[in-house]
Amino acid sequence: MPHQDHERNRAMWNEIVDVHLNHPSYLTQQFLEGGSSLKQLELSELGDVSGKTFLHLMCQFGLDTLSWARKGAVVTGVDISDRSILRANELKEKSGLMSARFVRSDVLDLRSVLDEHFDFVYQSYGTLCWLADLDRWAQVVAQSLKPGGTFLLIDDHPCSLAIHQTKLSYFSTESETLDNQPDYADRTFIRSHPSTEWQHTTAGILNCLINAGLRIGKVGEFDYSYYQVYEDWYCEGDRWYPPSGQSTFPLMLLVRATK
Ligand SMILES: C[S@@+](CC[C@H](N)C(=O)[O-])C[C@H]1O[C@@H](n2cnc3c(N)ncnc32)[C@H](O)[C@@H]1O
Repeated sequence: MPHQDHERNRAMWNEIVDVHLNHPSYLTQQFLEGGSSLKQLELSELGDVSGKTFLHLMCQFGLDTLSWARKGAVVTGVDISDRSILRANELKEKSGLMSARFVRSDVLDLRSVLDEHFDFVYQSYGTLCWLADLDRWAQVVAQSLKPGGTFLLIDDHPCSLAIHQTKLSYFSTESETLDNQPDYADRTFIRSHPSTEWQHTTAGILNCLINAGLRIGKVGEFDYSYYQVYEDWYCEGDRWYPPSGQSTFPLMLLVRATK
């Protein structure tokens, strides 16, 4: 049965997909001119993906998915937002990366629509806070991998979310629903749809993956972010820093696990 809060979030993601697609921070134009939207971090973690089957969870309009396809991976992107999947398919046509495939699904329900196993499962940059049930999420990740397959997560660190993004405490098990929020990419755009986010702890994320049967091979914490958290943050390459320089608490979390 569809998760009510996730469905409400779907309306919000449908509302903002074109705002993101057209925002310079998303590198859509560079991608269409033959470039890549991928950052050094995931490129160095995953290395050569050519010929590998690759599942990208919560892929929005598929820019990173298609960038992995451009590196030779056989990609499937998944997102809950129908409008994002529509745009992903348009970008696929425009870029001629015709082997890419996009599936609209709540990630928690994915196994009922996609009964396949992949060499890589990948999820990045602004995802876990949108999921109500991490036990079920981790099971979907584990069930989607081939034996020996690799899962890579790069996301907001739970400390960063608790300090910068929500009013929830680090340890909160509640969700937070907000109305009339400025979009995080284009702050002049006020969303008319409410959104609900969840706070998860680092231990909670790791334990869900362990309980789903995955072997965690690497955990990383970073003192920079992947986006301009506040307007006075500055960037070096594809890393964003607070005005004082390096953050005093972790802003991003990386988890690498195998089945
Ligand atoms: C911040 S974006 C992540 C974008 C990603 N880093 C990218 O561009 O490749 C979050 C995405 O998660 C999707 N999403 C949110 N809740 C979801 C769910 N329950 N199942 C699948 N996708 C979801 C949204 O539609 C949105 O496209």
